[in-house]
Amino acid sequence: MNIAIIGSGGREHALAWKLQQSELTEKIFVLPGNGGTDNNVALDGSDTEALKAFCNKEDITLIVVGPEVPLANGIVNAFNDLPVLVFGPDKEAAQLEGSKIFSKKFMKKYDVATADFQTFTVKDDPSCLIKEMKGDLVIKFDGLAAGKGVYVCASEDEAFSAIEDIKVKYGENAEYLIESKLTGQELSSIGVTDGLNINCLLPSQDHKAAYDGDKGPNTGGMGAYCPAPLATEELLNIIDETIILPTLNGIEAEGFNYKGVIYFGIMLDDDGPKLLEYNVRFGDPETEVILPALKSDLLELILASFDGTLGETELEFYDEYFVDVVLTSGGYPVSYEKGKSIHGLDELKDTTLCFHAGTKKDANELLTSGGRVLNIVCKDKELKKAVDTCYLEIKKINFEKMNYRTDIAHKAIK
Ligand code: AMP
Ligand code: GLY
Repeated sequence: MNIAIIGSGGREHALAWKLQQSELTEKIFVLPGNGGTDNNVALDGSDTEALKAFCNKEDITLIVVGPEVPLANGIVNAFNDLPVLVFGPDKEAAQLEGSKIFSKKFMKKYDVATADFQTFTVKDDPSCLIKEMKGDLVIKFDGLAAGKGVYVCASEDEAFSAIEDIKVKYGENAEYLIESKLTGQELSSIGVTDGLNINCLLPSQDHKAAYDGDKGPNTGGMGAYCPAPLATEELLNIIDETIILPTLNGIEAEGFNYKGVIYFGIMLDDDGPKLLEYNVRFGDPETEVILPALKSDLLELILASFDGTLGETELEFYDEYFVDVVLTSGGYPVSYEKGKSIHGLDELKDTTLCFHAGTKKDANELLTSGGRVLNIVCKDKELKKAVDTCYLEIKKINFEKMNYRTDIAHKAIK
């Protein structure tokens, strides 16, 4: 079959790479893709009319959606009456990611373990709650905010300025929630669901902070690894019982049309695992490690979510650790330059994977075109060796002001 992948990051390059390995795949197009993907098409994934015409012309029968925005805009609904499968939740179910308040209400309604919360609009006066919680809380803007709508506060002043920031950025009618602050390590659990069953890929951890030691501003993700050693069988069973199964019950009870990916962002609090958020898509950079670790055919897995066989599908994984270090443009995520020439990729070992993100081809040159530029992925039976190989491989690559975190997976190695 012919497939269209929507998106332009490392996640989409990894999806194209993995889907290309299926015998069922004929041709893959990436919309708009990047300097590492083939068959790029300069088409906006949110423009459903153009997308329909393209699917018709190229005989596309499956669309795999990378980012959340087309899903939140209802791309699944738009193709309802057409013979094209769109892998993802419909517009209503996509609110699990698109609205923090919708998703927290869903979690509470279906008894999913999560932090307590209250909802407000910027016109309300939350001072009593903020004082009662002594400013030690988390504030989340209700809508999609490209990772910038969450404020983890340590004082009352920080809490009030977060609300001011929401008002300035999102207007007088903006809604937000205040929730209790949790502490602990974070774990990403990502699975394919058909709305009744779920098949989880390996548990992974990403690194959101820009600098070593988890310091600095939040980013799209600076690296990831899987399987996360802290995800013991016992812990995964607790996560199943307290988070994943109640979520599936909720999806079924609400009657959501959900054939796609569900991502559970979990905090391993002292008090047990708690769900921080749902994403309704593959995580980035988690995808760049969990797909290489998946031995099974991804396209068969995706198709099983449509044909009712997901419950009988068993997944196989490689018995190795996979580590992804993201190479960024110096200054990311604040401000950075683009258009730098990238060198050294042809010197990487055959066993090293390189998923492009912010790159573009220009004549015979490969240039940087974004903040996150490349994902270098290495594997080994031992996590530490996979990490060491990754950092050795990175030494072969250069572009002006190239930057990266030097401590990916270090917490798991100690
Ligand atoms: P979210 O988009 O809801 O996952 O939040 C983004 C990031 O903010 C998470 O990955 C956590 O690092 C942090 N965060 C979110 N909620 C909480 C919470 N209740 N307690 C502590 N940190 C949080
Ligand atoms: N890695 C976090 C995300 O994709 O949202």
